[in-house]
Amino acid sequence: VSLEALWGAVLAENPRHRAFLEGALAGLRPDEVTELDAYVAWLAAEGHPIEYLAECYNTVVLDTLREQIWFNRHGHYRHSTFAEVAGDVYHNPDYMRRYMVGLALTAFVWPNHAAMRRHFLATLPTARGGAYLEIGPGHGFYFLSAIRRARFERYVGVDISATSVDLTRRVVGHFLGGLPAHVDIRQGDFLADAVPEAPFAAIVMGEVLEHVEAPGRFLARIADLSDADTHIHVTTCINAPAVDHIYLFRTPEQIEALVRDAGLAVQDRCLMPYVGKTLEECARDRLAVNVAYTLRKSR
Ligand SMILES: C[S@@+](CC[C@H](N)C(=O)[O-])C[C@H]1O[C@@H](n2cnc3c(N)ncnc32)[C@H](O)[C@@H]1O
Repeated sequence: VSLEALWGAVLAENPRHRAFLEGALAGLRPDEVTELDAYVAWLAAEGHPIEYLAECYNTVVLDTLREQIWFNRHGHYRHSTFAEVAGDVYHNPDYMRRYMVGLALTAFVWPNHAAMRRHFLATLPTARGGAYLEIGPGHGFYFLSAIRRARFERYVGVDISATSVDLTRRVVGHFLGGLPAHVDIRQGDFLADAVPEAPFAAIVMGEVLEHVEAPGRFLARIADLSDADTHIHVTTCINAPAVDHIYLFRTPEQIEALVRDAGLAVQDRCLMPYVGKTLEECARDRLAVNVAYTLRKSR
């Protein structure tokens, strides 16, 4: 399976995506192409035909577009409760697998998602010991990247979706030649389940806050599981509709107020405007902005 064949299959189903895709692929670094190539080769080895992988990618592209149209018309996300989306998304193995594999592909390809992936890798403390926690690893590619690059003594992943747990276990197992003894990937609700390894040296929560009803409670729980040295990495998005986004952030200030209320402080933030637009244009036209934060416990 070659990446060229994958993009060919994507465009055969979705020809209007060509200009965006070609522009995006031109921005990939050679090492990223190598990593993406290995990921796609593994998916193919898992028995997924190229048409299926193209469908995964196009599911994310087209479902996001549909939600964007809905958002432009109504000014808010279609759904606002976990119950409305959980059955169709997190607990629907067929949809969830397509969605998560598609999302992993966008993490390389979409310039905003690629920028978040690079930011995650650039800020990850790779020389620390202690335990690493990731909330909602989803496709598992960030979790795998952390294990490959860092030296934490223990890695814990918690995801509410059985499909995400399975995908994360498989991707880690494949690229590390089996699931290592110091890696634990559990199915559970981050708000409800005990996490006995706390305090953690690092806590990572990528693209979860906009998927939950009470993001402030997630941040407060992160603070509970941290000490003053914990490296906390959180990403989310503003005005960015998707099938399962239920909490609408309209400004970075709104996110940062929740962060402060949870007993956390912003150390560093990276705002990534919609491709080809400025942050001002995004704010004016309510276009999607991705945002990545490095946080510390403040009290
Ligand atoms: C959009 S995916 C994010 C995947 C990956 N972290 C990334 O940044 O691309 C969100 C993940 O959060 C999980 N999730 C949602 N609510 C959760 C909860 N209460 N506890 C644990 N995981 C949750 C979902 O099942 C899904 O796998």
